[in-house]
Amino acid sequence: EQINKGKYKHYMQKEIHEQPESLTTTMRGRLIRGGACKSKTVLLGGLKDHLKTIRRSRRIVFVGCGTSYNAALASRPIVEELSGVPVTMEVASDLVDRQGPIYREDTAVFVSQSGETADTLQALDYALENGALCVGITNTVGSALARKTHCGVHINAGCEIGVASTKASDWHCAYTSQIVVMAMLALAVGGDMISNEARREAIIDGLLDLPSKVKEVLKLDEEMKDLAELLINEQSLLVFGRGYNYATALEGALKVKEVALMHSEGILAGEMKHGPLALVDHNLPIVVIATRDACFSKQQSVIQQLHARKGRLIVMCTKGDSASVSVGGSCRVIEVPHVEDCLQPVLNVIPLQLLAYHLTVLRGHNVDQPRNLAKSVTTQ
Ligand code: AGP
Repeated sequence: EQINKGKYKHYMQKEIHEQPESLTTTMRGRLIRGGACKSKTVLLGGLKDHLKTIRRSRRIVFVGCGTSYNAALASRPIVEELSGVPVTMEVASDLVDRQGPIYREDTAVFVSQSGETADTLQALDYALENGALCVGITNTVGSALARKTHCGVHINAGCEIGVASTKASDWHCAYTSQIVVMAMLALAVGGDMISNEARREAIIDGLLDLPSKVKEVLKLDEEMKDLAELLINEQSLLVFGRGYNYATALEGALKVKEVALMHSEGILAGEMKHGPLALVDHNLPIVVIATRDACFSKQQSVIQQLHARKGRLIVMCTKGDSASVSVGGSCRVIEVPHVEDCLQPVLNVIPLQLLAYHLTVLRGHNVDQPRNLAKSVTTQ
């Protein structure tokens, strides 16, 4: 067992720190130079015969549970932007409970690390019955999801550690790799429209830069341990995000909840005044994600409003932005490198993964076997 963990104390820690490698594996052979102008392009072999159908879909429906749902949510804006097709989100169990409308003209994209999650598979059966084109995004070759979908992309995160694997150990690298696969899917479905060329190139350059930027974020480990020491006895932690990073808020909170066993909620910052603001006082710790993107100035205003209510703020911002977000130095700041907006969630989730990991260890919980959770949720 120790051999599998290498120099790390826990699988979760190993997985978090090996994300530069898992992301490289996910992208290997898929980003290539092509075409007359030698611009970079994306090659997803499992989708190539279906791209036209996906482009012509009436809508794209993303379906998943937990972390996989969050990865799909993080990717929704870029898929909408590049494909021009509306994307709707479905939690797998809810789609099945409602028997929500799914049409022949839909493309349903199922995201699942294990490919064996019962709720996701049931939603897949339902979408197949309704005649939608079903695409699978999974890390597990030969899984039920891979077999039953019409086409798909393997995540190739290379983070399955076989029988020794535990619930916590498979998922951390899967989340970031899922976002990368979904960004590549957006590029593939978007095609090579001239109007998108600069954006496409910027995303591909961003993808290629990701492993080194992830390495840079991982240097925050000690800082996140210090933060965990500060938060060790808290009952609750809120995480505010919006736009691309609403999913980061949900995923960060899910990690803190499931591994550190601390109540945590990811909140859409745009909803702050519609309820959550009532919780804010000088005790409750709040993480606000305010990295540079189209929502930055709105997040600055959220920080001001939380500060005015004496909120105990921890702000995640882009390197060099501390002064613009810390309201006169009164907030704790976590600085992360900048990358193209649709890839920023890959970097932003890492400090929260590290925080969840250190909180868990400090609180004396089992990092690799979270209480009450099974490796794959294969029952309903
Ligand atoms: C793992 O602990 C995740 N946090 C969990 O939510 C997981 O993403 C969910 O159970 C779905 O699993 P899947 O990706 O294998 O379908």
